[in-house]
Amino acid sequence: MKQDYFRGWALTNPSLAITKYWGKIEGLGNYPATPSLAVGLAELTCETEVKITPAKKPGALPHKLCINGVFQDSQRFAGFFEELRVLAVSNGIDVPFSVYANSVCNFPVAAGIASSSAGFAALAMACVQALGMDLSLREISKLSRLGSASAARSVFGGFTFLGSGKGYAEVLHDAFFWPDFRILVVEVDQGKKKISSREAMECTRKTSPYYDSWLRESLKTTEHAIDALQRKDIECLGRLARHSYMGMFATMLSAQPPIIYWKPESLQVIHVLDSLRQEGLPCWETMDAGPQVKIFCEASSVPFLLDRLKFSVPRTKIRVCTVAQPPQMKQI
Ligand code: PMV
Repeated sequence: MKQDYFRGWALTNPSLAITKYWGKIEGLGNYPATPSLAVGLAELTCETEVKITPAKKPGALPHKLCINGVFQDSQRFAGFFEELRVLAVSNGIDVPFSVYANSVCNFPVAAGIASSSAGFAALAMACVQALGMDLSLREISKLSRLGSASAARSVFGGFTFLGSGKGYAEVLHDAFFWPDFRILVVEVDQGKKKISSREAMECTRKTSPYYDSWLRESLKTTEHAIDALQRKDIECLGRLARHSYMGMFATMLSAQPPIIYWKPESLQVIHVLDSLRQEGLPCWETMDAGPQVKIFCEASSVPFLLDRLKFSVPRTKIRVCTVAQPPQMKQI
């Protein structure tokens, strides 16, 4: 490393779980305890630029990360940077270095819209580019997982799968597989969540009496969901998506203390969708570690859905998303 600094850039999309990863395998490495099937959200983006500066010794210059103008607690990134250093050494970069990363996301972060999936995938891709390392997407997926397991999926576009106990995600179908597939993101509250998904997962794993049945059930649900996706069966996929997120929240509500991410408007949207289904409109919701509601449907349902939601929950912000292409990355 003879230059003063090296720069890399990446643009990724959040990976929204259709069936949920919730719970980690005990021990090191951030391995998911449940399988997840997910889709990338094309219209939501996270653009990250990194500047890597050689340092005299490890830790001499602390790593710094800024997301939407706010500096982050670097402790959360420790495992990620340790692995980046190991990879760098095995790729012939044997001097210590420090990373400065600046991310700009066009959606609220830490609010339950999978920002950590897009954020860590973008960080990993931009660092790999800056350091000029020739890594496969599978290796980048493994690196991203150390920051956030869902980030292992964001490294790819389209529909992805991350198996339980697996180190990396894989692509099941690309963005062109189901051109009519749409995801509506209903923002009911843009505030930062009070408890991180990492903390909430650990609390459920340790204290929910339903945690073991959740692990068993999620294997079946994901297997069936993969099959429904293969058949492009929106009705079946939607029902399984709902079963998955409701099961995940059942473990949270039964944890001690209980974890409640929902807001009154979240429940309002859930009820509106229930009525719409009874009227025959194929639309199903999911939720993550936050109050926002995401809806799976086909393109033909979008205008009617938007009309009804704007009327019934007027104070929400709604974004219509298509399936994401693979992320972009380059050395700059
Ligand atoms: O990857 P994390 O630590 O941000 O956790 C993601 C958890 C969920 O969003 C609730 C589910 C998922 O599979 O993305």
